[in-house]
Amino acid sequence: MLPAADHLLRLLGLERTAFRRHAVSALLLLLLFLAFRLLLRLARLCWRFHATCRRLRCFPEPPRRSWLLGHLGMYLPNETGLQDEKKVLDNMHHVVLVWMGPVLPLVVLVHPDYIKPLVGASAAVAPKDELFYGFLKPWLGDGLLLSKGDKWSRHRRMLTPAFHFDILKPYMRIFNQCAHVMHAKWRRLAEGSVVSLDMFEHVSLMTLDSLQKCVFSCSSNCQDEDGKELSDEDIRAEADTFMFEGHDTTSSGLSWVLFNLAKYPEYQEKCREEVQEVMRGRELEELEWDDLTQLPFTTMCIKESLRQFPPVTLVSRRCTEDIKLPDGRVIPKGIICLVSIYGTHHNPTVWPDSKVYNPYRFDPDNPQQRSPLAFVPFSAGPRNCIGQSFAMAEMRVAVALTLLRFRLSVDRTRKVRRKPELILRTENGIWLNVEPLPPRA
Ligand code: HEM
Ligand SMILES: *[C@@H]1O[C@H](CO)[C@@H](O)[C@H](O)[C@H]1NC(C)=O
Repeated sequence: MLPAADHLLRLLGLERTAFRRHAVSALLLLLLFLAFRLLLRLARLCWRFHATCRRLRCFPEPPRRSWLLGHLGMYLPNETGLQDEKKVLDNMHHVVLVWMGPVLPLVVLVHPDYIKPLVGASAAVAPKDELFYGFLKPWLGDGLLLSKGDKWSRHRRMLTPAFHFDILKPYMRIFNQCAHVMHAKWRRLAEGSVVSLDMFEHVSLMTLDSLQKCVFSCSSNCQDEDGKELSDEDIRAEADTFMFEGHDTTSSGLSWVLFNLAKYPEYQEKCREEVQEVMRGRELEELEWDDLTQLPFTTMCIKESLRQFPPVTLVSRRCTEDIKLPDGRVIPKGIICLVSIYGTHHNPTVWPDSKVYNPYRFDPDNPQQRSPLAFVPFSAGPRNCIGQSFAMAEMRVAVALTLLRFRLSVDRTRKVRRKPELILRTENGIWLNVEPLPPRA
């Protein structure tokens, strides 16, 4: 090291004293050591990446655009992207590997048996990953959707009773009222004739209204079994999360159901007859909790619509352990997995003619040989949707009352093009012709 130190001192134009020579030598040695460690770490990273690549080689992937881009730009968030995804599904029925750029692999699961180990895993083995959910955090705080570990399990335990049937029953009032408000507006806009309206716009306002009324009537008295209360910040995060998770998802689901019923008048008429039957002889046009079970066909139509157009198209998880798939292949630890709800709902080995809207797939009198995970609009397992019964109740009330009061048909002048963002929306809304029906005799 000493000759190198001499050289450096000369370069810097400094006098060569013994102390300086040794100090500079020591510094150079340290630098060399650091560089070596860095190199070692880099080598280890490369080796690990190489090993992961080798372990991932067993999973099929669609053709890449280039080594640099990988599959970036192939899953566009528009109609084209969804159609491309469907094409891939027609060839790859279980797992698909996609590369976001040169170094970020994602394992996409598109089959009930394959999503099972992932959604069934405990929240610790497969937590939400930061890449996909991180950007929601400043907005939603550490609410149920994003929190993990003990905090999540404590809050989940605390909030679950808030979605018990007994608690939901009084919300029926709110669902009915909010639908009344929307329908009164539609009647005004239609002026006794037909009017074309964007369902997404109107239904969003309605679900926002009802959720706000429900959330803020309940969040004021949250207390868990150890008497530990939620802090103000916790309550704010949970309320924000419910508003976010509950309103956009439900309005997307509802808009798509109304679209499908407008598209298939025979199903619409069958639902309407079902509701008229329930309402027969009643003065008040108000659905009660017990009425919901009297709407089997309407429920089938809602489920088939959630299958065809799931409001949440995918959820993502990071594997903190190796996860074994039913065919013996293993998803290596550390990989981000996407549970594709859309993919599972359109998998041709599970759902024949998946593009066709056919409510009879959900006929309870003709049960199909299907995995319970073939239909997962609300996800499944320990981190499934806490608001599922709430959402189903609200959608049934809104569909039933809408059909009781209006006839719907598709506005052919405006094309519907899907747009999968966080939630499955459309480019320009869903415009339907709304025709008020004469009041019931
Ligand atoms: C049609 C309507 C709805 C759909 C399709 C839906 C779908 C989902 C899905 C797929 C998840 C899992 C997300 C993930 O794993 O990353 C989820 C979680 C969640 N949903 Fe919903 N949801 C709906 C309505 C609601 C409503 C009405 C509420 C509340 C009032 C709600 C509150 C939540 C919460 C808090 C979570 C996080 C649960 C946890 O991680 O423990 N959702 N939802
Ligand atoms: C989807 O986006 C891509 C790129 O932005 C565009 O080329 C394609 O035409 C779009 N598809 C539709 C149906 O708008």
